[in-house]
Amino acid sequence: MIITIDGPAAAGKGTVSKVLAERYRLAYFDTGMIYRAVGLEMVLSGTDLTDEKAALKFAQDMTFEKMMALSVHPDFRSDIGGQAASKVSAMPDVRQALLKMQQNFALNPVFADGTPAEGAIYDGRDTGTVICPHADIKFFVTASTEVRAMRRFKEFVAKGMDTTYEKVLADMIARDKRDSERQVAPMKPAADAILIDTSDMDAATEIDVVSKLVEEKLSKIA
Ligand code: DC
Repeated sequence: MIITIDGPAAAGKGTVSKVLAERYRLAYFDTGMIYRAVGLEMVLSGTDLTDEKAALKFAQDMTFEKMMALSVHPDFRSDIGGQAASKVSAMPDVRQALLKMQQNFALNPVFADGTPAEGAIYDGRDTGTVICPHADIKFFVTASTEVRAMRRFKEFVAKGMDTTYEKVLADMIARDKRDSERQVAPMKPAADAILIDTSDMDAATEIDVVSKLVEEKLSKIA
């Protein structure tokens, strides 16, 4: 079984993906991590983030192992990492170079320890439209920009990062704009995606709503 959950940053995709992955024994693929890895490698090596040729080379050389190694860097999840990821992900050649790596995971999904899984859950921007257009169940999860910025701000503060709500909000607006207006694979719901607005939901409610929808879909597929 393949489930895709797309939507903007801090909409609640990761939270629900992890619970569903556990419940249905699915491997979880946070596809934003590969763009973060490419972007962060460029930042750390002092490469100009508008250099498309260099970005393509970093993307072509990206592996799961490198991505996991970069994921422990403090800027991997910071605004610096998020903005860098958003910039490189707007480059068509970079997306093309990272396409197969993402699609192959659905053919042979494995857990972090390498054991085979019964399917996969993808979290991203274009996983229901481009990466896995034939997914069994697709969601597009969103929330108001202000709510998402507040969630992200609280996460950053909890991690001890020095930032302000206003800065997080401005970065989120810039990132949403770039992610939804880029020419290739812009962030948008698949035609057959179920739309969920989590603005007024806490995590437990969101998990409950999505789980019921998955059960409904599964009863129709079976
Ligand atoms: O989900 P995230 O915040 O970790 O994603 C970081 C950036 O990566 C996001 O701003 C856009 C890009 N991205 C993408 O273009 N396509 C995906 N499937 C996932 C992420």
